[in-house]
Amino acid sequence: MQIIDGKAIAAQIKLEIAEEVKQIKQAGGKTPHLAAVLVGHDGGSETYVASKVRTCEEVGFKSSLIRFEDNVTETELLACVDQLNQDPDVDGFIVQLPLPKHISEQKVIEAIDYRKDVDGFHPINVGRMSIGLPCFVSATPAGILELLKRYNIETQGKHCVVLGRSNIVGKPVASLMMQKAYPGDATVTVCHSRTPNIKEMCLQADIIIAALGVPEFLKGDMVKDGAVIIDVGTTRVPSTETKSGFRLKGDVAFNDVSEKASYITPVPGGVGPMTIISLMRNTLLAGKKEIYK
Ligand code: GUN
Repeated sequence: MQIIDGKAIAAQIKLEIAEEVKQIKQAGGKTPHLAAVLVGHDGGSETYVASKVRTCEEVGFKSSLIRFEDNVTETELLACVDQLNQDPDVDGFIVQLPLPKHISEQKVIEAIDYRKDVDGFHPINVGRMSIGLPCFVSATPAGILELLKRYNIETQGKHCVVLGRSNIVGKPVASLMMQKAYPGDATVTVCHSRTPNIKEMCLQADIIIAALGVPEFLKGDMVKDGAVIIDVGTTRVPSTETKSGFRLKGDVAFNDVSEKASYITPVPGGVGPMTIISLMRNTLLAGKKEIYK
């Protein structure tokens, strides 16, 4: 069994991006600029956005953080999105999800100029991805594919079972794993909360991508020998052992499943660090106007 070290791969890609940014700056080019919009004080969102801003600094990007209180109106938030759309210095921006209940996430996502949508959530980017056109691919699915690529994991003709059907992970990663490419060319089954025979499906899988958000859902007896296990779960559970008072739990019962797996991602240190790096890569592409002019 080999552990897929997302932290190490992310550190390597960070250096690659930093080097490219250095060269852009030396050649007199524009410094890529990522803006992040954060509404409220959700603990998870605060942590993710802080980490995105910090990584921007580490790779040499410019970053801006725009904060709103929970009681911001949808109109105010949409006005902010419009301002960022118009700002020629901002290459790409994200609106951190989830948003308060009184704001339509879909409306906000659709208001973002798809050419600045480095999260890859806009329907134009989602649609282009699903038919294999150049686009911003959302960060977590892109990070998963990058891990498979960097570990030279065979995907062609393999049976890939995706657990979860979210717009952010399950649906896009299923779409990417079936595309005519490497990584891809897999036969994909998507299972979700209404699938009656998940265990039987998982036992047939060569690759399992677990993105349900149910801690330790995937047990050892649900996995065949030699399977590749990608754990996307990041549920925060209370802990007395950490300074923050919580720790992250994946969707995979790691100790149990790792005895069967050929490759497995840990939580933390697997998919998580790759997500942020993929956002940095999308911002670099946005800055270079490589996907959309
Ligand atoms: N909330 C959880 N993951 C993400 C993400 O990748 N982007 C944004 N904007 N919000 C999130």
